[in-house]
Amino acid sequence: MKHPSKQSILVRHTGFFLHQGNRRGRPPVFSLVFAQVLPAIALVALLFSSCDRTRMDKGYEYFPDMAHSPAYKTYSDNPAMDDGNTMRKPVAGTIPRDMVPYPYEAGFEGREQAAMHLDNPLNINSDLLAEGQELYRVFCANCHGIKGDGLGNLHTSGKYIIPPTSLISPEAMNYKPGEVYHVITTGWGVMGAHGSLIRPDDRWKIIAFIENMIQEK
Ligand code: HEC
Repeated sequence: MKHPSKQSILVRHTGFFLHQGNRRGRPPVFSLVFAQVLPAIALVALLFSSCDRTRMDKGYEYFPDMAHSPAYKTYSDNPAMDDGNTMRKPVAGTIPRDMVPYPYEAGFEGREQAAMHLDNPLNINSDLLAEGQELYRVFCANCHGIKGDGLGNLHTSGKYIIPPTSLISPEAMNYKPGEVYHVITTGWGVMGAHGSLIRPDDRWKIIAFIENMIQEK
C-alpha cells in the first residue's frame, strides 16, 4: 500500500473547505465560497439578526445591578422607614440655604403688612422691564390678559370661568407694590399662590412691569 504523503494527509483533513474544489478539478471559486463568502454572510446575518428587537426592549443585561438598582428609588415605598416612604421631609424648622422665608400669612392681614413693609428693591430700567414683560406673559397673562384687562385667553376661551381681576381698574391702580407681591406669593381668593413658582426677584420684575408698562403710573 502506498503511504500517503504528509501533504496529502493535510489535504484530506482540511481539503473539504479549502482544497476540495481544486482536488476534484472544480474551479477555485468553490474554495472561495466555502472559505470566505459563506462565513462573511453568516457574520452579517448574525449582526443584523441581533438588532431585530423592538426599541422598547433593552436587550441583554450585562450589568443587571445597573438596570435593577438595589437602592430604593426616590418615590418608592420603603419598608425600612416608619412612614413607609423613601423620600424624607426636611427636618422641621429648617430652611434651604439662602432662602428667606416669607413672613406674612395669606389673607387680608398679611396683605396689609406686606403693603406697609415691602417695596421693590430692584433698580428699574428698560432691561428689567423687558424681563418683567416676559415673566408676566409666562405667569400672569393667561388669566389677567396681555394688557392686564382681565381678559386672558384661559378666561375668554371659557376654560377658566372665574373672571380674573382687571389690573388696570381704578382700584388696581392703587395697589401698593408690596400688596401685589403678597398676592403673587401667597395667592388671593381663588387665585393660587405663585410663591413656589416665581423667584422673589422675578416677582418684583413682574410688579415693575405691571406698574410701569400696563398701568403706566
Ligand atoms: C389661573 C389664573 C390666574 C393667574 C395665572 C394669575 N391670576 Fe391673579 N387673579 C386671578 C383671579 C381669578 C383673581 C381674583 C381672585 C379673587 O378675587 O378671588 C386674581 C386676582 C389678582 C389680583 C388682585 C387681588 C385683589 O385685590 O383682588 C392681583 C394683583 C393679581 N391677581 C396679580 C396676578 C399676577 C401678578 C399674576 C402673575 C404672577 C397672576 N395674578 C396670575 C387669576 C389668576
